[in-house]
Amino acid sequence: MRIHILTLFPDMFQGPFHNSIVKRAVDSALVEIHLHDIRQYTHDRHHTADDYQFGGDSGMVMKPEPIFEGVESILSDLTQLEMARTRVILTSPQGRLLDQSTVEELARQLHLIVICGHYEGVDERVLEHLITDEVSIGDYVLTGGELAAMVLTDAVVRLLPGAVGSEASVRGDSITTGLLQHPIYTRPAQFQEWGVPEVLLSGNHQEIKRWRRERSLERTFHQRPDLLARAKLTSQDIEFLGKLGFKGKENSRG
Ligand code: ADE
Repeated sequence: MRIHILTLFPDMFQGPFHNSIVKRAVDSALVEIHLHDIRQYTHDRHHTADDYQFGGDSGMVMKPEPIFEGVESILSDLTQLEMARTRVILTSPQGRLLDQSTVEELARQLHLIVICGHYEGVDERVLEHLITDEVSIGDYVLTGGELAAMVLTDAVVRLLPGAVGSEASVRGDSITTGLLQHPIYTRPAQFQEWGVPEVLLSGNHQEIKRWRRERSLERTFHQRPDLLARAKLTSQDIEFLGKLGFKGKENSRG
């Protein structure tokens, strides 16, 4: 996969992409990450990438020309087949909320071109004629789209085959399974006055599996009841949730 990031602040990306799993994925050629300074596609003396808003209002708007030029220069190197598996993404608080199923969909592409939004936003013609996906990472406003682009890249890269040590750990992700993760423990078995749940030391795999499932259900019910509406639940799960006060799938939305 190749990920292109168009940004006004390429230096912000030093760090997040040079450590841990993303660095390893780049080093082992699972992914190429290319940073493009949007100002390199401007042609005036001051490298102007933003301008005042038509109609009057406070706040600057990102100009369309440098963004079009940058994206089109990347697209011009692609074949028709590659184009069909390329997404042009704008990070903005107005976008669709990023979730694991969107990340999975993006991880199946060949190329991602991510434009980091700034100021009040970008000229609407960019959204109308260039962007395939507008993505937000949450209902809060960041100083710019760079952090959102890093979050998106990180989440996509860890899904690329070979990026994370164990495929099973990716498949069993909390959220991917539709439920939050059960509590986990490591050594020492006794830390200060706190022990580890007996069942985890019992060696009884059936019991451990049941304990984990119930803790997952419990945690999801208390912390993210909205997830239960979409989770795959067995009749045993529903019976267990019923004891916690779960009223059934129809009543758990929102
Ligand atoms: N830019 C500013 N806030 C953002 C958000 N929540 N998600 C994506 N891009 C943003």
